[in-house]
Amino acid sequence: MIRKIIYDDIPQAASMFSSVWKSTYKDVFDESFLEKRTADFFQNSLEKVIKEHLETMYIYEEDQNIYGIISGNILHNKNYDCEIIRLYISLDSQGKGIGTNLLNYMQEYYRSNGCKEMIIWAIKGLRNNDFYKKRGGREVENMEKTFGDKQYPMIGYGYNLA
Ligand SMILES: CC(C)(COP(=O)(O)OP(=O)(O)OC[C@H]1O[C@@H](n2cnc3c(N)ncnc32)[C@H](O)[C@@H]1OP(=O)(O)O)[C@@H](O)C(=O)NCCC(=O)NCCS
Repeated sequence: MIRKIIYDDIPQAASMFSSVWKSTYKDVFDESFLEKRTADFFQNSLEKVIKEHLETMYIYEEDQNIYGIISGNILHNKNYDCEIIRLYISLDSQGKGIGTNLLNYMQEYYRSNGCKEMIIWAIKGLRNNDFYKKRGGREVENMEKTFGDKQYPMIGYGYNLA
């Protein structure tokens, strides 16, 4: 079931973010940067996001276990009117269709809110790049983004929602 995240979900969500980040980015980010991405780190950032309504965030849950999280926001940019900020599936549940399900759900959510063009940023060269392309993402933007003290090439995948 996909539902909106609530405050009580934060500990489970934070622990999932920490383990998925450490696995996904182990050959990308420096160890010193990654070791700070603890469950406590994500606990603090998610508390802020939820209290201050900074992102629209949904979870994929079964039997009270969280297996996936997606978040995004409405944008005030002339080319894109909405974006996906986070999409993370727990390590033992990747490749079972949950990510596709959440991505489709958010596209429908934005479509029903009148949005026309969605963007998702991903670090260039990661396995998720193929995931986004196969699901209709067009390579529309490039930029460098700083994580820790290093810069990384990013690709913006655009999705037409019309
Ligand atoms: C990328 C991700 C969101 C895809 O969700 P998913 O539920 O695993 O994927 P689905 O089962 O819906 O789709 C399967 C596809 O995802 C790909 N996939 C599976 N595991 C993956 C992984 N660890 N990383 C990237 N892609 C993965 C498969 O190759 C498969 O490709 P196919 O379409 O050729 O069959 C998810 O694997 C994940 O959280 N990866 C790690 C974190 C990440 O990269 N998040 C995106 C940050 S921008």
